[in-house]
Amino acid sequence: MNTPTATDFIIFGALGDLSQRKLLPSLYDLEKDQLIPEGSRILCLARQASDTDSFRQKATASLQIHVDEDRFNQQTLQILLERICYIQLDFSQAEQYSQLETQLSAIANQQRIFYYATAAEFFGTISKHLAQYNCIDSASRVVLEKPLGFDRESSTLINEEVGQYFTELQTYRIDHYLGKETVQNLLALRFANPIFGTQWNQNYISHIEITIAESVGIEGRWSYFDKAGQMRDMVQNHLLQLLALVAMDPPNDLSADSIRDQKVKVLKQLKSISLAEQKDSVVCGQYDSGNNDTELLPGYNSEPGAEGNSDTETFVAIRAEISSWRWAGVPFYLRTGKRMKQKLTQIIVHFKQQPHFIFDPQQRDLASNKLILSLQPNEGVSLQVQTKSPGINNDIQIQPTILDLNFNQEFSGVRTPHAYERLILEVIKGNQYLFVRRDEIEHAWAWCDDLMQHWDSSEHILHKYPAGSWGPTESAMIIRKDNRQWFGEN
Ligand code: BG6
Repeated sequence: MNTPTATDFIIFGALGDLSQRKLLPSLYDLEKDQLIPEGSRILCLARQASDTDSFRQKATASLQIHVDEDRFNQQTLQILLERICYIQLDFSQAEQYSQLETQLSAIANQQRIFYYATAAEFFGTISKHLAQYNCIDSASRVVLEKPLGFDRESSTLINEEVGQYFTELQTYRIDHYLGKETVQNLLALRFANPIFGTQWNQNYISHIEITIAESVGIEGRWSYFDKAGQMRDMVQNHLLQLLALVAMDPPNDLSADSIRDQKVKVLKQLKSISLAEQKDSVVCGQYDSGNNDTELLPGYNSEPGAEGNSDTETFVAIRAEISSWRWAGVPFYLRTGKRMKQKLTQIIVHFKQQPHFIFDPQQRDLASNKLILSLQPNEGVSLQVQTKSPGINNDIQIQPTILDLNFNQEFSGVRTPHAYERLILEVIKGNQYLFVRRDEIEHAWAWCDDLMQHWDSSEHILHKYPAGSWGPTESAMIIRKDNRQWFGEN
């Protein structure tokens, strides 16, 4: 592992939502755990007229809201604020970068991390101007936020523009799901436990479900979201990353490229789904007004900022297949949606039934194992096994029982770091294994582009679902047609 050296952390878009809600709080947490290298600075850049004092006040207010209460203290806050300096900069104005150059060159030998928390359309321009003002050296790193483009073509263009100034080894493409504890635990579970390692294929697994359900709606981002939709916002990145990690072959080691080579292989093996097949394999939806437990929720087209009668999808369910020896005949049921009944992210691996069943034939359908990997709201792993119902007064009846490993309980007292906190630390250390390589992102786009190319046709249907529900009822169809149901569905 590389030893962290004093770092200049340069945030473009420092007044934006991402910086205030995620980046600064993560830097605070790293500071609290003394993981920010000595001598490091945080240079915060945005267009708006402001100064360091006002920015520090705003940062303080954000930190008070977004840092866990039991972690917040004045001493850490002061140390962090001391590092912060605000620079007003219009990203498109080359000459304004001279002030950044002056700041950066004031201290020699700092490692530079440029964090682009802006719209991707600025990534190329910012990189060009940084280069023009000699701000990039061979040790500099750049962090690119999602969404990286709108489709494969635009994503390739952005990668090429940035690639003129930063090599692939200097480029860290964020997918914050890769920073979540359970996602990394998936590697440990799969590759450190022979019991799973030997069974992880079509001989033993019947199907896999991946659900990313969000209870929130658009959260004031209607105009961004309306151009993207749930497919670009969640499937192209987070969902396909989870899929790739679940399905990939064992990497040779834990190096970034060994892992990413295997993920790319899976993305290339994803079967394309023709328009005819989409009728049975893809369901898109959009939330209408509805209720959660406490309030009436507006429909997507009545959200603040909504313009007109949009048919952008806020829900997608897909029956995907992977063309490989390992996964032939194993469907992957994927679904993700906004304004669903609860926030829930889980991966469920369903193992096949016993070939010969000796118990009550009525119970045969019960008799399989499920491995449940929970990412949200609680992180943990559980295994559903069959045991005998207790008692002496009946024949052997089996019942599903859960072997439960809840990380919060099992490792109580050990704090689980937030995803961004972990990812920022990995950038400081120079470890790329939790970041997405250029070819990964481009293959993921290619599969999504192929699927979405038919969505303008009259055959494409958008199903409405009430906010606060589990999505359109039609989404059950893609799994029921295989005589299965979503885990937890009654
Ligand atoms: C972001 C999406 O990448 O992930 C948001 O743009 C989404 O729309 C968010 O709400 C979900 O992240 P998490 O960590 O809350 O599941």
